[in-house]
Amino acid sequence: MTSDKPGPPEFDTSVAHQARIYDYLLGGKDNYAADRAAAETGLKIWPEGAFTARANRAFLGRAVRYLAGEAGIRQFLDIGTGIPTAGNTHQVAQGIAPETRVVYVDYDPIVLAHARALLTSTEAGATEYIDADLRDTQTILDQAAQLLDLTKPVAVTLLAILNAIPDSDDPDGIVAQLMGAVPSGSYLAISHPGSDLLSREALAGMTDVADRMIRQAFIFRSQEQVARFFEGTDLVAPGLVRVEEWRPDPGSAPGRSSMWGAVGRKR
Ligand SMILES: C[S@@+](CC[C@H](N)C(=O)[O-])C[C@H]1O[C@@H](n2cnc3c(N)ncnc32)[C@H](O)[C@@H]1O
Repeated sequence: MTSDKPGPPEFDTSVAHQARIYDYLLGGKDNYAADRAAAETGLKIWPEGAFTARANRAFLGRAVRYLAGEAGIRQFLDIGTGIPTAGNTHQVAQGIAPETRVVYVDYDPIVLAHARALLTSTEAGATEYIDADLRDTQTILDQAAQLLDLTKPVAVTLLAILNAIPDSDDPDGIVAQLMGAVPSGSYLAISHPGSDLLSREALAGMTDVADRMIRQAFIFRSQEQVARFFEGTDLVAPGLVRVEEWRPDPGSAPGRSSMWGAVGRKR
């Protein structure tokens, strides 16, 4: 790991963590004063942050529904799981296909502490939780292979996590390694905060807040940079769009997020 930000977080309530800031923005209770302070400071600069968090979570639901439904996927590798909340990946997928197998991965101890809520699989399916850093990609693949059959299609979901991986840690290489380990017909779902979806002032302000107040890196990337992660896949319609514009449910809440999202099918 070559990042100037440290590796897996310790359980430290004095510094804001992305998992807990996100929990706060979604209205959860698993957050501390430092998380709330960072979130509130960020919202002054980036008021769309709260809508963006909710829109991202709703994108997770629609993307998983699509993958388990129309795309017929029965295996998920969900990396950057976050603190369990309503509509976790296995609940959405197993609601459609109870035999679905889901492997969750996160490196934050608070997510590990809540992992039991992720291990409530249907009898026909299965779930597993791996406490690991995305940058230890081979470890994740080796452990995931104990539950998932990596010779059959897998949906790899990287939702609101690649923003914590600086370029110096080679996020393109990490995504390529994950997708290289699964067969053609597998899927990749990514959501990522967009540097081109914020004003220049907001972007500078958020970068400053992240540097001062958040333990992990928090990087915005352009639509073009996010599109590069999908190399070797064909994007499912409507392509790489703001998350709320990806196959929206009728009557969904209005707003404009600052988050790109897409689903691609491996060629
Ligand atoms: C903002 S939450 C997103 C949760 C969920 N994927 C969603 O979109 O609703 C990002 C999660 O990624 C995790 N994360 C960040 N960097 C990570 C890394 N290098 N390895 C594993 N997990 C990481 C954080 O701990 C956090 O729980």
